[in-house]
Amino acid sequence: MKETIEIAKEVLKNNRRSGYTLPTNNKLYPAQWNWDSAFIALGYSYFNIDYAIKELETLLTGQWNDGMVPHILFHDNDESYFPNHKTWECGNKIPSSGITQPPIIATIVKNIVDQNKLDQGQMKRMETIIKKLKKYLDWFYNYRDTNKIGLVSIIHPWESGLDNSPIWDSPLDKVKIEENLKYERRDLNVSKSENRPLKKDYDAYITLLNQFKKNKYNPNKIVNESMFNVIDIGFNSIVIRATKDLIKVAKKFNLNFSDLENKITLSEESLIKFYKNEEQSFFSYDFKNHSLIKVDAISNYFILFADLENKEINNKIISKLKKYNSQKEYFFTTVNPKDKTFEETRYWRGPVWINSNWIIYQGLINKDKNFSELLKNKTLELLENKKFHEYYNFKNGDCLGANNFSWSAALYLDLKFN
Ligand code: DGY
Repeated sequence: MKETIEIAKEVLKNNRRSGYTLPTNNKLYPAQWNWDSAFIALGYSYFNIDYAIKELETLLTGQWNDGMVPHILFHDNDESYFPNHKTWECGNKIPSSGITQPPIIATIVKNIVDQNKLDQGQMKRMETIIKKLKKYLDWFYNYRDTNKIGLVSIIHPWESGLDNSPIWDSPLDKVKIEENLKYERRDLNVSKSENRPLKKDYDAYITLLNQFKKNKYNPNKIVNESMFNVIDIGFNSIVIRATKDLIKVAKKFNLNFSDLENKITLSEESLIKFYKNEEQSFFSYDFKNHSLIKVDAISNYFILFADLENKEINNKIISKLKKYNSQKEYFFTTVNPKDKTFEETRYWRGPVWINSNWIIYQGLINKDKNFSELLKNKTLELLENKKFHEYYNFKNGDCLGANNFSWSAALYLDLKFN
């Protein structure tokens, strides 16, 4: 039987197109996705460093002039995906979506640089990547931190990467759906409807997209006028970690990003206010409608990844995480099974996802070694038994969503070799 490591490499190589890699080859996502590509690059770094660097370079070729890196780049004229380049009608050099995704790329670049001996040419290419990432993080602070508190807003659930997480339910309920909205979903042709977002979610997704398009994706306008504006714990944790990691990796290239350092102090001070003692938890904030979103979702625990300088709070979060569902055969579910919004097999409302385990694992390593090892071994075991799928049922490990899923393969390699 082929070793899982070899299968993981094959998944990545088979999903590779010219200079970038599809999230899966089963037609569900026929383009390049922002955070998928970052995870994929980390996977390549274990067997083909040039593929890794190229993946990142291709993604950053689509960076907008203002610094934003889009959540999707449409490299060809494929129209089998909805919404495709014809719906979005935007992009710089490469047709793209008009919103972004979690900037996990900065942490991944730091990991790749730290773990590899790069030659001069590769170092030069990495330096260019790092400069573009500085522009990307500046974009977040310039355009999405409208209160200047060091925390950024997302203006569409797709920006979170956790499309139909119940965290978005109450903010989405308040989005006024466009009248006579017309569109045709394509995801249901290649995926089971019981695993995918609902029609009411898509109605809101497309209403928001159309509003941004009408505003020509002007970054000031769309952040102020969006009917959806959430200060999300998971997203901000990734941004803070990205900021810290970018500063660190830049030093290796004699680049001084000290202006970002002030952001970290401010961000941490602001973020801590979203910790609620009663529930021993962080909660995201619906900035548009001024309310706290009390859903027990795994992304609230991404706060560990932010590496806050607060041992007491970190310990409380870890002890709560231990009760979340790590006593089960497969964990972590994306939503706590005890939360009323939990759905066992629907996308980001319950199933186990490998990237969210990876983020939590990275957050635990320097805080609770034993627990981090348990999570790592359980995740490796799941992948070795079931191979590389989009997400998994926590009760029996059943494979859900797309197969040959790139980031599951890529992160397997990282967990295995680290
Ligand atoms: C999808 O189409 O399901 C994607 O997650 C959107 O980014």
